[in-house]
Amino acid sequence: MKELIAKVKQNGQIARGIYLMTITLPEEVPVKGGQFLNIATGNPANLLKRPFGIMRKEGKDITFCYQLKGEGTICLSKAQAGNELAVTLPLGNGFDIPESAQKIAVVGGGVGIFPLLSVEESVKGKKYYSYIGFRGAEYACLTDDFKAASERLTVVTDDGSIGQKTNAVAAFLSEYQDIKPDLIISCGPPVMLRALKAQLKEKGISTPCLVSLEERMGCGIGACLVCVCKKADGQNARVCKDGPVFDINEVQL
Ligand SMILES: Cc1cc2nc3c(=O)[nH]c(=O)nc-3n(C[C@H](O)[C@H](O)[C@H](O)COP(=O)(O)OP(=O)(O)OC[C@H]3O[C@@H](n4cnc5c(N)ncnc54)[C@H](O)[C@@H]3O)c2cc1C
Ligand code: FES
Repeated sequence: MKELIAKVKQNGQIARGIYLMTITLPEEVPVKGGQFLNIATGNPANLLKRPFGIMRKEGKDITFCYQLKGEGTICLSKAQAGNELAVTLPLGNGFDIPESAQKIAVVGGGVGIFPLLSVEESVKGKKYYSYIGFRGAEYACLTDDFKAASERLTVVTDDGSIGQKTNAVAAFLSEYQDIKPDLIISCGPPVMLRALKAQLKEKGISTPCLVSLEERMGCGIGACLVCVCKKADGQNARVCKDGPVFDINEVQL
């Protein structure tokens, strides 16, 4: 984990309320798919850095996408090329993709799709079947990037403005028998992850499934316990340090 001062390379809107930022680090830092960074917002009044999944690493350049939520992300959206921002990375455990997993189903909803792209890019040579869902066409982004990385891409929306009017979990399950993946990886809003867990159980599907959780965070490095989630055995886990990636059966959703 490094604390560095990065330079903004590009920062712009790619869909409604969604921005893509590339920062250049002063040195190259190894990153695993599914890890995240903590970045200052550019406003010294925001004492806490904000966490975002790392989507792409090319040399010293790191790209992530963020949705406007509150003060921090609004401030971040105003950063311009050349501005300097303090960043801590890489954080969290990332996705451990077993060598034996050759067919991987990627199930993502909303801003949850961003960290999933990092996995497709970092573990080449496997077959990815991607199911991504958006609220509507105006929120859709990065579909070309997913298409380039996937054997098959299915895009769905809540309102039917792109693809079928359904959600990513339902789209995946309707094709499950066809692709029979060795591994499922998923990230999305809590309601989506709960539905995925319930449906896998209901259908008796025991394919290993890794989920990346997003909790409100404080320190991002395991010290403050703001991000604690409950494990299935009742124990606490820190999403920032023990996660954000967990086996779906290991955590209460
Ligand atoms: C490991 C991890 C990876 C993440 N990756 C991404 C990503 O790739 N892209 C992205 O857009 N967002 C991501 N998030 C969520 C992102 O960190 C928050 O949306 C952001 O910090 C909000 O900052 P803010 O100052 O704009 O909002 P605040 O003013 O702090 O809050 C505004 C609203 O956002 C909600 N919020 C704040 N933090 C979170 C959170 N962690 N998860 C969900 N809702 C939150 C608050 O409850 C509130 O309703 C990630 C979070 C974690 C923990
Ligand atoms: S954010 Fe502080 S322990 Fe996780």
